[in-house]
Amino acid sequence: MEGKEGLQIERYKSIALLDSGVGGLTVVKEIYKQLPNESIVYFGDTAHMPYGPRPYEQVRGFVYEIIDFLQTQEIKAVVVACNSAASAGLDYYKERVNLPLFGVIEPGVRAALKQTITNKIGVIGTTGTIESGSYQDVFKRLAPDVQLYSQPCPLFVLIVENGLVNSPEARLVAEEYLAPLKEAEIDTLILGCTHYPLMTDVIQEVMGANVKLISSAEETAREAKEVLFKNDFLQDEHHKDGPSRRFFVSGPAKPFTDLAVNLIGGEIKAYQVLLPW
Ligand code: DGL
Repeated sequence: MEGKEGLQIERYKSIALLDSGVGGLTVVKEIYKQLPNESIVYFGDTAHMPYGPRPYEQVRGFVYEIIDFLQTQEIKAVVVACNSAASAGLDYYKERVNLPLFGVIEPGVRAALKQTITNKIGVIGTTGTIESGSYQDVFKRLAPDVQLYSQPCPLFVLIVENGLVNSPEARLVAEEYLAPLKEAEIDTLILGCTHYPLMTDVIQEVMGANVKLISSAEETAREAKEVLFKNDFLQDEHHKDGPSRRFFVSGPAKPFTDLAVNLIGGEIKAYQVLLPW
């Protein structure tokens, strides 16, 4: 629809977010804060979690199906709220939709550049994200002088999805993974997986108080605001029924709902969707 009325309808549509599980909820939480009038629709591909160890082509196949499903849900933008999915091929997904689509990697890099003083930055992520070199590529483009130290932390996702964030095992695993980054004396650490902000306490304890931890969630929500504003899709009015918040998962709904309520609060009802994989 063209004209003012058309824009009005676009504004009422939802921001779509996707992840392999609960990690993308860290971005949802920031959207609630920064864009309280926006409706969201979230997809957690829990049947295929974790994405990190999978071949990129397979991850792309999953994401295509999710994007096709999300496009049936009255959406106005897509946030790939998963570093592993974004690393597997953000540009491919852009070709699949005729809507603004962006990921979490570039916002994370920008946030880190605002914080670092020594230009020695670390990034942790899944094996897929780290091996793809997606962070190196963005740093090369935006700040080639930065010394980047990267470290895969594959077990962190399973620790989060199984509710073990405060366990002694989480601490042991974190010490092991983070030792090389401590040795490198970085001053800023990018949590290059949307699950990792849920482990902030243990990561900060192990790295020490002087290392700044960067969650891309905040910067990604800011990017969402900017992109919607530019397209004139920003929902700046408060709707009398409040924004709608819908959650879909590919695995059983209950475990996701329990974790999600814990992480972002409020009343959450998730629905299982069986996609043709
Ligand atoms: N939250 C994810 C990421 O940002 C996915 C982790 C996974 O499924 O392995 O990479």
